[in-house]
Amino acid sequence: MQKSVLCLMEGIKKIYKIGEEEVEVLQGINLSIERGEFAAIMGTSGSGKTTLMNLIGCLDVPTSGHYILADREVSRLTDDELSVIRNEHIGFVFQNFYLLPYATVLENVLLPTLYMELHKNDVEKRAIELLRLVGLEKRAKFRPNQLSGGQQQRVAIARALINDPEMILCDEPTGQLDSKTAAEIIKLLAEMNTLGKTVIIVTHDRNIASHTKRTIQIKDGAIVS
Ligand SMILES: Nc1ncnc2c1ncn2[C@@H]1O[C@H](COP(=O)(O)OP(=O)(O)OP(=O)(O)O)[C@@H](O)[C@H]1O
Ligand SMILES: [Mg+2]
Repeated sequence: MQKSVLCLMEGIKKIYKIGEEEVEVLQGINLSIERGEFAAIMGTSGSGKTTLMNLIGCLDVPTSGHYILADREVSRLTDDELSVIRNEHIGFVFQNFYLLPYATVLENVLLPTLYMELHKNDVEKRAIELLRLVGLEKRAKFRPNQLSGGQQQRVAIARALINDPEMILCDEPTGQLDSKTAAEIIKLLAEMNTLGKTVIIVTHDRNIASHTKRTIQIKDGAIVS
C-alpha cells in the first residue's frame, strides 16, 4: 500500500482555563500518522495522552494549531461537524468499555449506527460478522454484565468497527484487564491493523507498547520521541 498521511498535527496547543489560571496541557504538538500505522502513545500520568487522543479523535478541538485529518482541516469545526467526521473515520475503545448495561451485546455493537440511515438487516449482518471476528458470535444476546472484562472489551472493539472506520483509537484499552487478557486484546488490535486499520493505543504499559510498530513518547504536553 502506498504511504499516505492520515493525521497531520502542526503546533497543536491545548490550554485549559481554570478560573484565572491557564494550564497549557499540550504545548505545540507536531505529529504525523500514516494510514496503516500501529502506534502507541506513552507517557506518565498527567502528561497529556488523553488530551492528545481526544484531539486526534475529534472529540475536542485545540486552542491553537492545525490538524488535518484525511485531507481536511478539522481544528476549527463545530461539534456537529466533528461528530460527522468521527462517524466517518474513527472508532473508539476506552478503558472502561462504556457498554450500555441494559442493551444486549448485539445492540451495543449496533449503537453507532442508530442515527444513520442504513438498512437494518445489512447492519445486523455486519454486526454479527464483527462479533464472529472478535470471537463472540455466541454471546450476541448476552448483556455486558454476563461477560468477562476481556469479552466486554471485545464487544467494544466490534462496536468501534461497525462504521468501518479508517482509524481505531484506544485509550488504555487493557487498563482493566489482567496481563493474559490484555495480551489477547492487543493481539486482536494487531489483527485489525493487519486488516488495514490505523490503530493508535494510549498506554503506560511498556509491554503493550512493545507490540506496536511505533511509540510516540509524550512528556509534559510535548512529544519527546
Ligand atoms: N477538562 C480539563 N480541565 C482542566 N484541566 C484538564 C482537563 N482535562 C485534563 N486536564 C489536565 O491536563 C493534564 C493532562 O491530562 P490527561 O488526561 O491528558 O493526562 P493523561 O496523560 O491521559 O494521564 P493518565 O495517564 O492519568 O490518564 C492534567 O494535568 C489534567 O489535570
Ligand atoms: Mg489518560
